[in-house]
This record gives sequence, C-alpha cells and structure tokens, in this order.
Amino acid sequence: MAWSPPLPTSESCLHDEKNQLRDSLEPEMRRRQLILGAALGLTSWGLARAAQPGAGASLKAAAARSHRPWGVAITEAQLQDPAFSALVLAQAAMIVPESEMKWDGLEPAPGRFNFSAPDRLLQFARRQGLQMRGHTLVWHQQLPDWVVALPPAETKQALESYITTVVKHYQNSLHSWDVVNEPIAEDGSGLRRSLWLERLGPNYIDQALNWAHQADPTVPLLINEFGLEGDDPASEQKRQQMLVLLRELRQRQVPIQALGLQAHLYATPTGPTFQRLPAFLQSLADLNLDIQVTELDVNDRMLPASIPERDARIAAIYGDFLTTVLQQPRLKSITSWGLSDRYTWLNQYFPRQDGLPQRPLPFDSANKAKPATRSILAALNTNKS
Ligand code: G3I
Repeated sequence: MAWSPPLPTSESCLHDEKNQLRDSLEPEMRRRQLILGAALGLTSWGLARAAQPGAGASLKAAAARSHRPWGVAITEAQLQDPAFSALVLAQAAMIVPESEMKWDGLEPAPGRFNFSAPDRLLQFARRQGLQMRGHTLVWHQQLPDWVVALPPAETKQALESYITTVVKHYQNSLHSWDVVNEPIAEDGSGLRRSLWLERLGPNYIDQALNWAHQADPTVPLLINEFGLEGDDPASEQKRQQMLVLLRELRQRQVPIQALGLQAHLYATPTGPTFQRLPAFLQSLADLNLDIQVTELDVNDRMLPASIPERDARIAAIYGDFLTTVLQQPRLKSITSWGLSDRYTWLNQYFPRQDGLPQRPLPFDSANKAKPATRSILAALNTNKS
C-alpha cells in the first residue's frame, strides 16, 4: 500500500500520567457486559476478567464530558473475542467498521450488493447504544476488480450507483460518512493521481459529495485524510493543499460538513509536534467545517525496543495531540483505529525491524490500560469545552 508516514519532527513534552478515573457509568457498563456475556455464553467470572482492564478508566465517559463520542474502529471478527468486545463496550461510544464498508465487500459484482457484515455491526451498535460511522465510499484501495477493469466511460455511473445505493441503505443510521478518502497526493503537490482523478477528473470529489447528500441529506459528510497533523514540511504542504480543495468546495457550495483528520501519528524519539495544527483547525472552522479525529493511533516502529520507553513516548504523543485538538470547539469526535494492541493494522503494514509487536493503542495486547490511556484521560479531563 502506498501509505507513507509523516517525516520525523522535534520533541514534544511528556505529559504527567494521572490516576485512572472512576467511571460514573460503571453500573451501565456492567449491565452491557452482562448482556454481551449472555450473548457470547460467558460466565460472570469470565466477564469480570474480560472487563477488568478498562473498568476504572473509560475513554467514552471522559470524552462525553466534552460532548464528543469516543469511537473505535473494529472488525466483525474482533467482536468474537469476548475480552476485546467487553473492552470496546467499556470504552467506546461509537464504532467504525475497519474494512466491512469498503467497496470490494459491499458490491463484489456489479449491482450485487452485500450489506450483511456492516448490517450486523450496525445491529450490534444499536443493541449496545453505540453510534456508528460510515467508512468509506470513494477510495483508491479495496476496490473490486470489476471496478478497476471498467472502461473509463462507465466508471462515473458505477460510482454514482454505488454511493447512492450504500448511502440510502444506511439513511438515518450513521453518525457521519467518510465520503472521499485520502484525495490529496502523498507529497502534497495536488490531488492524488488515483483511478478516480484519472477517469473522472477533479470533479469526482464534488460529484461524490453531491450524490451522497442527495441520498441522505441529513448525515454529515467528510473528506478524510492522513498526514495533516505534524509540524514537518510534508504535513504543512498537505494541509495547504487540503485548504485549497476545501475552499474551492465551499465556493461551489458542495455539501461537506467536516474534515476527518486520520491522525495516524508516527512516533520518533523527538516527534511529532503539533504547533502548527491549531491554525489549520481554525482555518477549517473559518470555513464553517467541523473536525473529526477519525483513525488515531501511534506508529512506534522508529522507537527503541524498551517497552517502558515506548509506552512513555506514545503516551506523550497522545497527550500532546489531544490537548492540541481538544482546544478547537469544532472538534466533534475522536476515533482510535483499534483499541488494544491485540488488533492493529500496523503489525501488517509497518512491522518493526526488531520483530517486536507494535504498541500503538491505548490498551496493551492483554487489554490492560497503558500510560497512553492515562494521558488520553488527562487530556480529555483537562478540556471540557
Ligand atoms: O478481504 C480479505 C479477506 O477475504 C481475507 O480472508 C483476509 C485474509 O487476510 O484478507 C482480507 O482483506 C484484508 C482487509 O483488510 C480486510 O480484513 C486485506 O488483506 C488488508 O490489507 C486490509 O487492510 C485494511 C486496510 O485499511 C486496507 O483496506 C486494514 O485492516 C485497515 O486498518 C486499513 O485502514 C485504513 C483506512 O481504511 C483508511 N486510512 C488508512 C487505514 C490504515 O491503512
């Protein structure tokens, strides 16, 4: 895959790790865990053990105090893991299917839609009182072979029909939709030279947002992008290019409510730092756009092997980043791309050279809270806006 990390930058300060907070929603968490346990056939002892790591520290309760849902990307397969499911229910107010809403799964053959997997996730979310985000409609990855093989002249019709069918199917059901995913070129030089740009021209972004809006005029629509967060020149270039795009969309009155900052942060011993981010977020607010953090995690492949060192650095980055974005009132949600290190895309896409597993998420692979959990909670609890 053509993902490349932001360049290393200078050091950010280490945040104090604060004590875990007692969660006022504990009784509700226990009720949900019992329901889940009954569904999965677990004993109450098994449930207590499964839920134990997160019981005292709820990301969702802390995020809710500043009126933002804490979301977690999950797959249906991961929900079959009782301990992990219990952790998700204890910590998340929202889920996003990590892969189940991508085009290759939803329309494996022309006109033959299969919504079964995301429908089950939506059902799970509804039963548990969680919101669900839609991810993602127009991307250059996870495309069915038949779309790639289409003659250019038929591609526009296929995209319109896909967006219309999928958005209508989930009408009035989702928190928001990632409509266009990763449209900016990796080097920030302009739009990504994707199949979409090549076949439909730059207007594909307007069209996709318009089709989605026609299919469900109420659901918030996003462009979702990575590499917009750090102080390095590549991120700055990408931010400027994103602003060019968003200003043009506003001028043409294209329906778009928010920008998704993926926030796949790339840890180095001294970076990343986020001093330029507030001005960018304010530029988005000035365009009357909301902001969502959509795929937060911290890639540690450049950090040393030592677990305490890695965990401290990762916690500092989480704290720094969240403290920065939480100052912007237009920030509407925070979603981490996974929840515990047991399940992360990074071990497949960015394996560490020493062969050790990455530790990019708030909880460790035993679902126990890490320093990152505590620095996230500290950032959330400092900001109540
Ligand atoms: O669909 C096949 C399945 O049939 C097969 O059994 C299985 C065996 O490994 O592979 C399945 O495909 C995998 C797919 O996830 C579904 O699980 C692909 O190999 C795998 O490459 C794919 O990775 C996902 C990737 O997007 C590409 O869609 C990652 O899990 C997911 O974390 C990642 O998420 C993206 C966001 O959507 C956009 N932003 C960047 C982010 C990280 O790359």
